Amino acid sequence: MNKLFSVITAVGIALSMSAASPHTGRTVRIATDNTDLILKVGDNGRLYQTYLGPKLRHDTDIELPEWWQHAGSDGAVTRRGWEAYPTAGTEDYFEPALGVVHADGNMTTYLYYVDSSTEPVEGGTLTRINLRDDKYPLSVTLNYVVYPKENVIKTWTEISHSENNPVTLPQYASGTLYFKEPEYWLTEFSSDWAKEAQMSSQQLQFGKKVLDTKLGTRAALHAEPFFEIGLNGPVRENSGQVLMGTIAWTGNFRFTFEVDNVGNLRVIPGINPFASAYELKADEKFTTPEFIFTLSYDGSSQGSRNLHEWARKYQLKDGGKPRMTLLNNWENTFFNFDQKLLGELMLEAKDLGVDMFLLDDGWFGNKYPRKDDHAGLGDWQATRSKLPGGIPALVRAAQKAGVKFGIWIEPEMVNPKSELYEKHPDWVIEQPNRDTYYFRNQLVLDMSNPKVQDYVFEVVDNILTENPDVAYFKWDCNSPITNIYSPYCKDRQNQLYVDHVRGILNVLERVREKYPDVPMMLCSGGGGRCDYGALKYFIEFWCSDNTDPVERAYIQWGFSQFFPAKAMAAHVTSWNKATSIKFRTDMASMCRLGFDIGLKELTADELTFCQQAIANWKRLNPAIMDGTQYRLVSPYESNHMAVEYVDNGKNMGVVFAYNLAPRYREPQSRVRLQGLDPDKKYIVREINLMPGTQSAFAQNDRTFSGDYLMKVGLDLFSTDKNTSMVVELSAQ
Ligand code: GLA
Repeated sequence: MNKLFSVITAVGIALSMSAASPHTGRTVRIATDNTDLILKVGDNGRLYQTYLGPKLRHDTDIELPEWWQHAGSDGAVTRRGWEAYPTAGTEDYFEPALGVVHADGNMTTYLYYVDSSTEPVEGGTLTRINLRDDKYPLSVTLNYVVYPKENVIKTWTEISHSENNPVTLPQYASGTLYFKEPEYWLTEFSSDWAKEAQMSSQQLQFGKKVLDTKLGTRAALHAEPFFEIGLNGPVRENSGQVLMGTIAWTGNFRFTFEVDNVGNLRVIPGINPFASAYELKADEKFTTPEFIFTLSYDGSSQGSRNLHEWARKYQLKDGGKPRMTLLNNWENTFFNFDQKLLGELMLEAKDLGVDMFLLDDGWFGNKYPRKDDHAGLGDWQATRSKLPGGIPALVRAAQKAGVKFGIWIEPEMVNPKSELYEKHPDWVIEQPNRDTYYFRNQLVLDMSNPKVQDYVFEVVDNILTENPDVAYFKWDCNSPITNIYSPYCKDRQNQLYVDHVRGILNVLERVREKYPDVPMMLCSGGGGRCDYGALKYFIEFWCSDNTDPVERAYIQWGFSQFFPAKAMAAHVTSWNKATSIKFRTDMASMCRLGFDIGLKELTADELTFCQQAIANWKRLNPAIMDGTQYRLVSPYESNHMAVEYVDNGKNMGVVFAYNLAPRYREPQSRVRLQGLDPDKKYIVREINLMPGTQSAFAQNDRTFSGDYLMKVGLDLFSTDKNTSMVVELSAQ
């Protein structure tokens, strides 16, 4: 490795870092196999981004002075460049990443390079760069982890000081990235209940575009914590340069995209500092959440594959472990069940061929039984009248039926009609002197309070202590923070949004530490929580309560941009019952497959179909769960959708093709496959057929080379509305 880029040793803090910095010209290269992020110390001793883009072949190019012209907006490079972590109060008049009000009230911060180091971490290398203000004892460490093979970089920042009194941080982003291209096109993912991850795009022009959330919990209800930027044109699936970024924070986030006076774009991701100016005590460290990004030079499809691969290896809990299929009772029974009925449903689960029965909401509360969503949240004891044998009897019944047992909880929440609220009204986020606004008749527990954290941890701990065989939790979170006021934070109310999330993460850390092998699903009134911060603790998330297969096509297409199928739970339900069980099952089979339907609703043939579809899904797991995904045909750009999965050895593949809303006599194009071995021969065979039906697939049971399939393709579509075809590829 070039000496210039090797570990740069600590040299101490320069006493005078203004004009003649001993570090001027020092370069820090943060590189994956395909991407370079180059940072350089300017002649003023401050750190600048000089390059972010495709990997540079020649180390010597990195030293060319032209980089600086690129960086500066007025030619005076060291005065107005692309500062790696721009601060408020300098000569840069655009959006800063960091704002500091020092103990003496001064609002300016200048950060100078001190030193940097690298160390190996799982899957890659961590570079730490220390910066320090020359007039105040305030330090910032920029962290970058590169995952070379997956071409993913994650970055976060640590802020600390030793001033005499606390300093206030009005803003504290995770990092900053800069681009200079003729055009920037943002793809955003707007959301709502039952309408998650809807994609739309717009060109970024001069000024700022902000994507943010202020919900506190259920934070992604209206905006997903991720985005794409087409550099030099709208984001395309298989061509063009695209930045894909996401923030690992289970709370308020903010992405600021600012195009400046000379056409530079800066991207500033972080916690949303809205109502959250943070008071930082001396020697306390403020660590920002991780911002995770990849640059793809072949469109968003490749960017997604980078993230899928990276997530399964390094971020998603149990990314390398198998997933369980399940039968959930929510849409089937809602709150109306008892021990006997659940026993019957467990037998149905076994009959269906799934691995687990998942008991949903409505099993708890005695003084205020949870018979609807008005009462009981907070009282996590089984309702005696409904479930006289409690959870132990349910676990035994599941064992007898031959399936695992999983259970729903919503431990961060409370109904005012609960014993918990009666006992601990001060554990709840609620205004002391205003009318209370209830979201789904509930309130949010104050997770900044360590006692509340203990209580929430004990919800899981008590269930597992009593029932070590409980195999799975669905952890829900249905309300945003309403009536924001924390009795615990008292006069530090502006800490609440941040400390609340930290409290949640503390609890999740404790749960993972004590029960590393108990999988949990992240749910938030559908997909209101789906960030890579939480997904360190959850093996998957519930994409949406909307399981209408037509809507799911768009929702799953959207989430697949950032998450592997393994992280996405999809269930077959009665939503849009007008469509066939096949269509509904084929759509759910693209993700972690489950069912949430009464089997009595199914005909004998439909049940047989479902049993076979589950067996097929399990057989195809090396492709769907652990392989590589290729989005072939977008529902946003056509009346169809097609998605392909190929296992790592390119021996097994599956293509899901859907006719969503084809027009009358609409001409159908062939679908070219991707990611196959051109020299292998594949038999293509339609699977997931209803009993007694013949395949109408033109190329059924024929053998083609991978080359042919990728260059010529298959006739996968028809004009039959709301129909689907699943084709298995098996290498010979
Ligand atoms: C949320 C979830 C649903 C279900 C209900 C139960 O809405 O998204 O799947 O668990 O809560 O109340």
